[in-house]
Amino acid sequence: MYGSESSTVPEDLERTAFRRAEKKYKLYYEDTYKSSKKKRKPKPVDLSEVLDFNSILESYYQNVELPHGVVPLRCGFDRPVFSLENRPGFYFIPGALSVKEQCQWIKESLTSFPQPPNRTNHNAFYGPINDLFIAANERKALVADWGSNSECDPSVSNGGVHGWKFFEEHEVSSKGSTCKSVSALVLLRKLRWSTLGLQFDWSKRNYDVSLPHKKIPDTLCQLAKRLATPAMPLGEEFQPEGAIVNYFGPGDMLGGHLDDMEADWSKPIVSMSLGCKAIFLLGGKHREDPPIAMFLRSGDVVLMAGEARECFHGVPRIFTDGENDEIVTLERQFSHEDDFSALEYIRSSRININIRQVY
Ligand code: SIN
Repeated sequence: MYGSESSTVPEDLERTAFRRAEKKYKLYYEDTYKSSKKKRKPKPVDLSEVLDFNSILESYYQNVELPHGVVPLRCGFDRPVFSLENRPGFYFIPGALSVKEQCQWIKESLTSFPQPPNRTNHNAFYGPINDLFIAANERKALVADWGSNSECDPSVSNGGVHGWKFFEEHEVSSKGSTCKSVSALVLLRKLRWSTLGLQFDWSKRNYDVSLPHKKIPDTLCQLAKRLATPAMPLGEEFQPEGAIVNYFGPGDMLGGHLDDMEADWSKPIVSMSLGCKAIFLLGGKHREDPPIAMFLRSGDVVLMAGEARECFHGVPRIFTDGENDEIVTLERQFSHEDDFSALEYIRSSRININIRQVY
């Protein structure tokens, strides 16, 4: 599902309205800056059609008319919740998470969520990796362990690697040129997803209950239950059983897709945005349906339940430049907490935690 600025898409997909919107909003750079990566300048994009729930919230508080099709929900939730007339089951809660909560979940997403037995995109190649964030802060490198062989054995499928272990950078250089290694910082930057609770198997696009797993942390469960209430009109309680954490770096996008592997689509997906601002595309039941574009900022929460569960959606763009990322308050909070490595990470990243009831 992930792509980057350089990904190619088959021509026939370009014909759908969803794909055209993805192309419109995704990050392109000015040609003149192509040769020098450091100075690359994003091409300007027309954002006039992107719904902005920050200004919608302001209009709501000032009793000013809302954009056509945006409807405030009367549901007794402790913050304003908005729905969209032509996308039943979709709810937007602007600024649902306090800045403190945002910091907390960013830190958890970097430290505890990628810890085994939770799986990440790195599992397929490296196996389970413990303490990646700590290793990245300590500038360590992950080094291949060849077991009794002293170096790579080309006759074996993975070169004969028995496992991977973190070492100090200076220890790696003393191992010589045959040593296969990758810096922990690079691995942290290449972290794309981790899965909590029931583990999602991306190759089968389904949950694999046979995989070892821990329950979703209780504080996250309680938060998700509370946030889900506007989409649970019958007063039932949402039961968080699995969550996917998506990590976005500059130029990353999440292509249009459906989240349809859960048994009961009347239950919402609770989706929390953290870090840099993004554009979210909410399509219809077919890729040909023109999607609605909206900004997602740190602390915003989106619920997708019922009919909205059948709608294609994706994230074509995140904004990592100081002018547009809109993370000033987050930066302040992180500086207070002396958490400079998390701050450094989130300055050019976005994290999305989406929590699901699987059965
Ligand atoms: C998703 O649809 O899986 C994630 C959406 C987001 O990143 O906001």
